Amino acid sequence: MEQRAHWGSRLGFILAAAGSAVGLGNIWKFPYITGENGGGAFVVVYLLCVMLVGLPVMVAEILIGRSTQGSPARAFRTLAGKGSPWISMGWLGVASAFVILSYYSVVAGWSLHFTYLSLTGNLVNLVPAEFEPLFESMYASPGLNLTWHAVFIGLTMAVVLGGVSKGVERWSRILMPALFVMMLILLAKAFTLDGFDRAVDFMFGFRTDKLTGAGALEALGHAFFSLSLGMGAMLTYGSYLRKDDDIMGASITITALDTAVAIAASMILFPILFTHNMEAAQGPGLVFISIPIAFSQMAGGAYLAPIFFGLLVFAALTSAISMLEVTTSSFIDGNSWSRKKATLLAGGLIFLVGIPSALSGGTALFGSNIEGLVGKNWFDSFDYLATNWMLPLGGLGIAVYTAWRMNEAIRHDHFLAGSKLRHFYKIWLLLLKFLVPVAIILIFLHAIGLV
Ligand code: PHE
Repeated sequence: MEQRAHWGSRLGFILAAAGSAVGLGNIWKFPYITGENGGGAFVVVYLLCVMLVGLPVMVAEILIGRSTQGSPARAFRTLAGKGSPWISMGWLGVASAFVILSYYSVVAGWSLHFTYLSLTGNLVNLVPAEFEPLFESMYASPGLNLTWHAVFIGLTMAVVLGGVSKGVERWSRILMPALFVMMLILLAKAFTLDGFDRAVDFMFGFRTDKLTGAGALEALGHAFFSLSLGMGAMLTYGSYLRKDDDIMGASITITALDTAVAIAASMILFPILFTHNMEAAQGPGLVFISIPIAFSQMAGGAYLAPIFFGLLVFAALTSAISMLEVTTSSFIDGNSWSRKKATLLAGGLIFLVGIPSALSGGTALFGSNIEGLVGKNWFDSFDYLATNWMLPLGGLGIAVYTAWRMNEAIRHDHFLAGSKLRHFYKIWLLLLKFLVPVAIILIFLHAIGLV
């Protein structure tokens, strides 16, 4: 059998894993759900979810990957034995990767389209009233959606084809620093805007009256999504780690970077909105309608717009790479296929699964017809299914297995290997045993309307 691939360096792993975590979830979704939930208290609850639930699950996921050196299903088979029901947790991860990447790629495709529009000067000479129709017409166009979906999956496949260190790691080392620089440029601009102070107050002013139970649970679900937990992405990346890398230390760095980017993205978007007298609670259209309007009216907007949409594309790409890698590495492990064959098949299948999402805005079949049936179009159904059910279920499996089933010697050994943070072991295990499962079960009860 082929030797397992490994990361070239510790920094390479951290950048790749941070690349997986930092994505549309941080720049597109976090600001708009923060806006919808009134800011302040929601941000605090989100931070608590990240630290007390997300971080422990991340450590567990990476630990399962590193200790087994296998993709999700293989990892559970190694740990729990052939024929064990735990193996289904691995396959659930692969299924989640399919579901999420298929619609994620559609939003990433919109980002590519807006990058293209901004680079060709097509966003600057519109009047504000023209932006909503611009977004709506793109959303409704099967041709545009399918083309950009194909381009985006193609880019993702091109990186994954290169392998772990020469593909995933190499591109993460280029895209992530570029992403940080682009963010700093935009943040510097936001800082000069009149709306900056109001944005600080909105984000950090603690207004408990706005926070609802539903909002708190949304924060928890989003912590999973944003940290790429519960589908084996971190597990797969962890499987390329060597024995002497510090899992706890790396997880803290990845979590901190992910959270910093979500906050920074909000501190870019809200000052822009407030300066132009726009509302914070605008939902998913925030990034593709309101922000382009603001750029079109702002000094230097013609240059800032491509930086912003390029940032979205880079963030989405490094996340998509990790999702495709879950499937690719599972195909390689499961069938002894070459990376090329596994990547082409995985990418091709995900493209096909994404077609209904790409057509959700433009065809009755996947838009209004399905909506009549389940209350959501295809695209939204996939997002709902993945974020509220599949990722938390995967996270629950990972937490329960690691805390209650895993061999203590393996667990302890892998936690301590290379780590100076040994005193975290007990508290980590405690959180994983009790708080994490309870929190996840709360998400489920909420989703079925019981709490
Ligand atoms: N964390 C990514 C984001 O915030 C999405 C993602 C979820 C990536 C699950 C991989 C696995 O956009």
